Amino acid sequence: MIKKRIYSPGPVDVSPYTSLEMARPILHHRTKEFEAIVAEVVEGLKYVFQTKGDVLVFASSGTGAMEGAVCNILNPGDKAICVRGGKFGERWSQLVTKFGGEPVDMNVPWGQAVDPALIESALKADPSIRAVYIQASETSTGVASPVKEIAGIVRKYEGTILVVDGITAVGVMNLPVDEWGLDIVVGGSQKAWRLPPGLAFASVSEKAWGFVEKCTQPRYYFDWSKERKALGKNTTAYTPAVSLFVGLRQVLAEIREEGLDALFARSASYAQAFRAAMVALGLRLFAPDSPSDSITAVLGPEGMDAGLIVKHLASKYGITIAGGQDDAKGKIFRVSHMGYLDALDMITAVAAVEMTLKELGQPVELGAGVRAAQEILVQA
Ligand SMILES: Cc1ncc(COP(=O)(O)O)c(C=O)c1O
Repeated sequence: MIKKRIYSPGPVDVSPYTSLEMARPILHHRTKEFEAIVAEVVEGLKYVFQTKGDVLVFASSGTGAMEGAVCNILNPGDKAICVRGGKFGERWSQLVTKFGGEPVDMNVPWGQAVDPALIESALKADPSIRAVYIQASETSTGVASPVKEIAGIVRKYEGTILVVDGITAVGVMNLPVDEWGLDIVVGGSQKAWRLPPGLAFASVSEKAWGFVEKCTQPRYYFDWSKERKALGKNTTAYTPAVSLFVGLRQVLAEIREEGLDALFARSASYAQAFRAAMVALGLRLFAPDSPSDSITAVLGPEGMDAGLIVKHLASKYGITIAGGQDDAKGKIFRVSHMGYLDALDMITAVAAVEMTLKELGQPVELGAGVRAAQEILVQA
């Protein structure tokens, strides 16, 4: 028998408590009962996004919220900085192009974070730039961006907003929307929310609503003004993903009980433990200087296709992790620290990587990674 375990950077493991909630008989969405759930969920989302402003919910994957953050904001011909340091940064650039905007691509080597000074000089050189699009956590590389510093720069420009893809950051890393002045932050249910895929979120600041009002792009389902109006009445414009709302209510209650500071500290301890374990095994981190706490990208051993590690973990141990994408294919493997997992699950992941490396003929000392991870986790 092999027990299946998932450490992919989305979808993540869902707790049995959440699954049981979602297995309840389906509710009709135009009822008082469901309206109460919407109200509770929206309050919970505001708590996690750390905002008094709006948080919208859509029945889509995270990319739906990314699309909305372009088609509600940019008019054709508008310029927008797109930080491209990985697969998802490229998506911003593609979306801006698709809606007739002009991406000002800021290419960053994969594995590195953008230097905020570059954004500052680009905005100084051309203050007509309407938006800056970044990833808080670039899942394809395991890099965390200096969001706070970038927000401090963008805030100085009345005609520019900051749009943050927080799909693998919200609920893992501290991203206080109101305190840092983040205009739009998007999220997706299959990440830190420990839910199946199918919900996307977007927090929207008053400054960003000013942009939405002036935006002439065609949009229908992703019309943010329409959704804001509906949520104001504790309902959604169209049929919501009812069961996922019910599951989200459960997760949000758990998050409130744990508290955000404890949640962030716990996620950070898993990431630190996993990174220390990989280094103890003689491996190199793909993003050593600015690592994300939601996912760690690790370079495979010299001369070895890292994809073999991904395959071996799946076939021998029933463990799903992710490989590299595009240029990083075969070079890295990626392990998530999100979802319904605890410290011992992280130890399991480390142990499985160790055993896999040994079985693939690598000179690892069994237990070295586990010990390094334990040293950190016992102090957390
Ligand atoms: C940082 C980031 N942005 C965007 C996406 C796209 O989200 P989805 O696949 O839910 O559309 C992902 C998914 O992995 C992601 O990790």
